[in-house]
Amino acid sequence: MLITRRFQFAAAHRYYDASRSPAENQALFGPCANPHGHGHNYLLDVAVRGTLDPHTGMIVNLKDLKAAVEERVLARYDHRHLNLDVDDFADTQPTSEALALKIWELLDGHIPGCRLARVTVHESDTLFAEYEGPDAWRA
Ligand code: NI
Repeated sequence: MLITRRFQFAAAHRYYDASRSPAENQALFGPCANPHGHGHNYLLDVAVRGTLDPHTGMIVNLKDLKAAVEERVLARYDHRHLNLDVDDFADTQPTSEALALKIWELLDGHIPGCRLARVTVHESDTLFAEYEGPDAWRA
């Protein structure tokens, strides 16, 4: 069984590959390469897998899930510039895909009593990235 809790955070990002020229960056990333970046109000869905405890009717203590996400993810990314304030994306672009992967790594093994099942990062109403761990999808 899975249960999912939704969180939100605001962050800014910019896509820019320093090994390419400004024109190449503009061609590849469009306005996402503009010098000062732009912001998103991200929605983050964290799904965990576990066994239903008949006494509590739950598979995870939602307080534990909330605390782990707040401490490990939201404190790190909320109201931050993802290129400038953290070094998590030094080797990639801070896309929703890269965020989903990093958030998985931040949370995996840190939610007591259950297993992480899926991380979904919604960048907008029409775009979201999902990650189910290294064993689920190999590129
Ligand atoms: Ni963007």
